[in-house]
Amino acid sequence: MSFLNDIEPMKQSALAELKAAPDLAALERAKGAWIGPHGKFTALMKQLGTLPKEDKPAAGKLINQAKTELEAVLTQLRSDLELKAALPQVATDFTLPGRRRPVGKLHPLTQVTDEIVRAFRKIGFVVADGPEVEDEYHCFDSLNTPADHPARDTQDTFYLGAPAGSGATVANRPELLRTHTSSVQIRVMESQKPPVRIIAPGRVYRRDNADATHNPTFHQIEGLYVDKGVTAGDLKGTVEFVFRELMGSDVRVRFRPHYFSYTEPSFEIDFSSALVKKMGKEWLEIAGCGMVHPQVFENVGWDPEVWTGWAFGFCIERSAMIPYGITDIRLFYENDVRFLAQF
Ligand code: DAH
Repeated sequence: MSFLNDIEPMKQSALAELKAAPDLAALERAKGAWIGPHGKFTALMKQLGTLPKEDKPAAGKLINQAKTELEAVLTQLRSDLELKAALPQVATDFTLPGRRRPVGKLHPLTQVTDEIVRAFRKIGFVVADGPEVEDEYHCFDSLNTPADHPARDTQDTFYLGAPAGSGATVANRPELLRTHTSSVQIRVMESQKPPVRIIAPGRVYRRDNADATHNPTFHQIEGLYVDKGVTAGDLKGTVEFVFRELMGSDVRVRFRPHYFSYTEPSFEIDFSSALVKKMGKEWLEIAGCGMVHPQVFENVGWDPEVWTGWAFGFCIERSAMIPYGITDIRLFYENDVRFLAQF
């Protein structure tokens, strides 16, 4: 009975030492000292052989019970200490201000488009849409611009198949990336009955090299108004109203005769304002427009003797560059947040 009575006090000492370990390293050291391969309980096991035969089973059982209990306590202590080690070392100060997440906003071109749409909505226009992959017929031919028309040269551009050469018909429609939003005029007139009052904002594609004022893709807004007895005076009044809404009441608008194959007469719209003067100019060209050509009405099956209308198209980038004083169109497409965050 040499060490049988030592087991319980030894266990108590081991428990005390394990529980006192301040961190995981100390805990592992304490484990080694008591129940590791060179620990005191392992040594006791080895001494079992020295006991009288009848004491061996009881002693072995006691030692094993103590070891099992110590193992269980060890596991619990280890997980407590692991949790402690994972906790922040410095207390969290919940009264500190939070970290602000940067909030995104609408792209300046979207903002300007929304403003233009809002201005037109006030006078009864609705938004229409058409495909960016357009066919030659809707982009050119139906707009009175046949394949051999000189106006087509600058716009014959990103084809997705071979161009028709001799002109597209309804049955033969090679596709291309639309060069202007004027194609939406035709799509609307094909699908609705007069009168119509629509605007169509959207992306267009041109064979232009990128520079400060050009980009191979840009955005236009198209307008079409068809009713009985529509005049160029209505067109001018509408354009004046919208530009004053967008750029202030000091805006003046001037129409200059021009040529577009889908309008007759056709004009270019110049406008003048304090902002334009700041840019060192008296007038700035902003849009093309005119009275819908009778042939265009014929092409969609509307009687030109009954229906009259006007149309216009202008570049959204240009309308954003003027009020904001942006001098390079490429800034809109670079997605540099230092630029975008200013709007
Ligand atoms: N489509 C022309 C362009 O891209 C702009 C334009 C001119 C549109 C006259 C019109 C219009 O609707 O009547 O340059």
